[in-house]
Amino acid sequence: MRALVVYESMYGNTHLVANQIAAGLRTVADVRVVPVDDATPETLSGVDLLVVGGPTHIHTITTSKSRRAAIEAAAKPGAELTIDPDAEGLGLRDWFDTLDPSATTAKAAAFDTRLDGPAMLTGRASRGIAHRLSRHGLEVIAPPESFVVNRDNHLVAGVADAAEAWGAALGRALRAGAT
Ligand SMILES: Cc1cc2nc3c(=O)[nH]c(=O)nc-3n(C[C@H](O)[C@H](O)[C@H](O)COP(=O)(O)O)c2cc1C
Repeated sequence: MRALVVYESMYGNTHLVANQIAAGLRTVADVRVVPVDDATPETLSGVDLLVVGGPTHIHTITTSKSRRAAIEAAAKPGAELTIDPDAEGLGLRDWFDTLDPSATTAKAAAFDTRLDGPAMLTGRASRGIAHRLSRHGLEVIAPPESFVVNRDNHLVAGVADAAEAWGAALGRALRAGAT
């Protein structure tokens, strides 16, 4: 079985979570992890499970404006934020807008990173991502999942392990569906 984890990440946390999810999935599948820019129709072809995640901005999926704001915030004097290598590429919103629904018949799952706190207050990008996956005709096999960061934009303790466990659970669900 083949799995593809597609991530958008401004400061690296979603990228790290994507890698952890992939580590969990590796127990049952061949896995690739790619930034949005590299999630081309060729990359999607033949994939059994597509996992898509991004940061929560203004309660939902990033916009070009929020992505710009994130880059500007990192450039401010004293900001201890590192821009992820692919942060200035394509955002998930634009990727979904150009994604051809016939590009993949994979099963799918959505995740996000967001601030620690009740989702009612923080919002969560994963809901919008899951919605877009469904709209493109993909079968979403797990509820949208969030992995939280603290106010200093670091993953909260234990979250990296939780991401790996979530990946492993997705792998088991994929395998159960395939038998
Ligand atoms: C412009 C901007 C808006 C944000 N809005 C929210 C928000 O509404 N809710 C939330 O939980 N986190 C919000 N955050 C925090 C991000 O979710 C957090 O920085 C992100 O998950 C870190 O992931 P990354 O390192 O992959 O970029 C925002 C961050 C930025 C830069």
